[in-house]
Amino acid sequence: MKTYLVTGGAGFIGSNYILYMFEKYGDEIRIINVDLLTYAGNLENLKDVEGRPNYSFVKADICDAEAIGKIFAENDIDRVVHFAAESHVDRSIKDPGVFVRTNVLGTANMLNCARAAWEREDGTYPEGKRFLHVSTDEVYGSLPEGNGYFYETTPYAPHSPYSASKAGSDMLVKAYMDTYHFPANITNCSNNYGPYQFPEKLIPLMINNALQGKKLPVYGDGKNVRDWLYVRDHAKAIDLVQEKGKLFETYNVGGHNEKHNIEIVELIIDTLREILPDSDPRKAGVTRDLITYVEDRKGHDRRYAIAPDKIREAVGWQPDTMFKDGIRKTIEWYLSHEDWMAGVTSGDYQKYYEDMYKNR
Ligand code: NAD
Ligand code: TYD
Repeated sequence: MKTYLVTGGAGFIGSNYILYMFEKYGDEIRIINVDLLTYAGNLENLKDVEGRPNYSFVKADICDAEAIGKIFAENDIDRVVHFAAESHVDRSIKDPGVFVRTNVLGTANMLNCARAAWEREDGTYPEGKRFLHVSTDEVYGSLPEGNGYFYETTPYAPHSPYSASKAGSDMLVKAYMDTYHFPANITNCSNNYGPYQFPEKLIPLMINNALQGKKLPVYGDGKNVRDWLYVRDHAKAIDLVQEKGKLFETYNVGGHNEKHNIEIVELIIDTLREILPDSDPRKAGVTRDLITYVEDRKGHDRRYAIAPDKIREAVGWQPDTMFKDGIRKTIEWYLSHEDWMAGVTSGDYQKYYEDMYKNR
């Protein structure tokens, strides 16, 4: 039985990954989830797996050498899947420091602890040990409208403090592979969407605001392009890379699904109007009149677009969920999980929202 150490498993993608892995492998694997439970971490996401004997949760900071070292000392970890990070660009523009701490120093600590546990005296590693660093396409910078894709060979050119800190963490992983022959992979994925995404990100924020009849703040001209992938397809890619990918390789993950932001916002409004019954008092307020163009994000990357050829050819990955189905499933999920939304938007979220959008 393989033992996985998953960091950031209480966040959006991490929790979807853990649910995916237990659905796929059942009792054949063991997962230890390490998460600090910042504003973005929520154990509610994992209530369906909580009682499993092959699942455990440890509340710890990935920057804490003692706590992470102890997990490696007490468990024979085969695979690390490293999600834990500060993940929101707007927050990184307001407060870059925590991004450097968690994303760069936290990743360095995870690498050190794994290396200390795994490396033999002769500098080799036991068969089967693998560290997967979950990263983003934002490290490649920005593409011009309608021209070109991000390949694994595209030079890094991050613009936001978030993407710069992820680029830093990627470079550390590459340095460990080159210097210590550390058994790792990096995946650079495009924008994810789906259940359990915190409503600071475009799609859940727009769904939540529309249902409350609040304005829908579109940055700049609304024509920035993101390449959207359903979160379970990302989970599948990570699993395939660990199962079949070549060690030391980087894989870009994306499903050729580029959309202008404004298209997404309009689609959310139209889909909500279709799904909500006429008897729902919120329906009348869900209209395109809510769309409000606001001040642009500083340093706003124009376009992201992934070329997924390498991962398709190397491990046979391709997405299962078409955007039109995925976005509908996502909206339906938020409509049937209003308690989840109410829980994560109580307290600190109100303050965050007022702060972030006060001049917009
Ligand atoms: P998220 O913000 O939803 O979750 C991050 C998780 O990390 C939370 O559970 C949080 O509590 C935890 N965490 C934060 N700081 C920690 C610390 N110091 N110690 C331990 N745990 C800590 O993020 P997400 O959207 O699920 O993203 C997960 C990973 O995937 C990140 O590394 C991100 O860069 C990457 N990624 C995200 C996207 C996307 O579209 N969301 C796309 C590509 C890559
Ligand atoms: P986001 O979900 O924050 O992801 P990222 O910045 O990592 O790509 O934003 C997606 C796009 O949506 C991005 O171009 C910024 C834009 N956006 C808005 O127009 N309004 C908003 O309120 C938010 C949160 C994002």
